[in-house]
Amino acid sequence: MESIKIFAPATIANVSCGFDVLGLALDTVGDEMIIRKTSTKGIKITKIIGQDLPLETHKNVAGVAGLALLSELQSNSGFEIEIYKNIKPGSGIGSSAASSAGAVWAMNKLLGNPFNTTQLVKFAMEGERLASGVAHADNVAPALFGGFTLVRSTDPLEIVKIHTPDQLYATVIHPQIEVKTSDAREILKSNVTLKDAITQWANVGGLISGLYTEDYELIGRSLHDTIVEPIRSILIPAFDAVKSNAIKSGALGCGISGSGPSIFALSKGLETAQKVAASMESVYENVGIDFDIHVSKINQQGIKIL
Ligand code: HSE
Repeated sequence: MESIKIFAPATIANVSCGFDVLGLALDTVGDEMIIRKTSTKGIKITKIIGQDLPLETHKNVAGVAGLALLSELQSNSGFEIEIYKNIKPGSGIGSSAASSAGAVWAMNKLLGNPFNTTQLVKFAMEGERLASGVAHADNVAPALFGGFTLVRSTDPLEIVKIHTPDQLYATVIHPQIEVKTSDAREILKSNVTLKDAITQWANVGGLISGLYTEDYELIGRSLHDTIVEPIRSILIPAFDAVKSNAIKSGALGCGISGSGPSIFALSKGLETAQKVAASMESVYENVGIDFDIHVSKINQQGIKIL
């Protein structure tokens, strides 16, 4: 194989209670990429369609993630990358993660799979470091593993794939403003109270248990974030109204997707997820804010060949 075309999914990181450790992959929104082997050593980004992003390898998240892979392999291989961006940067649904994870996944395939998926996460995290200043793994892990993932540890890196009930659907609304992850991280406090920590880890445990036992009510009761959401939600227009509409329409829970401004809700069943979408839309229609909206099953496969 000399060339490969892939779909790299959008992802929801944090999933309310799991700041920097939980994430899930979507299947109705993502980037497309074409990766080709070339005879020139290194990585060349030849085309980016859909967004204004740097073509210079060292300034592009896909380039930097790919270089991390090549450096570990001590390889003289060369690759060209074309990126068709459907995920807007600064949207909160893992735009940089899709490009970083897609690049290393495809390169690994073209090289005959020298690395396992956890190693690919490590390379893709270098793209995240470039994008946000911090090499967080909670978007690249679900993009690469598919499904719902837990970053149990970053050093050494350990990713746990979590069982997801079949009827779990995500609704994501993206108000058309940009929130840089680096800015959304800067406003966070570096300390949490013991009281908040107790609430948060109780919810993480509840959410994981609810996912495994397919207890949708328990999933809903656990989708709370007492640490990050109260601070970041001020960056998102009409956040409280969108959340309250989503819950009233039957969502199990609702919160900030990644570092925002996208807002996600999880629901049992497609019909409820669509009802939730309509209720979220109505808020932004009333206040006159443009938005994109996605309803998606949890993507169990992650990146795939097109
Ligand atoms: N965990 C990261 C954050 C995800 O919330 O800053 C960024 O998409």
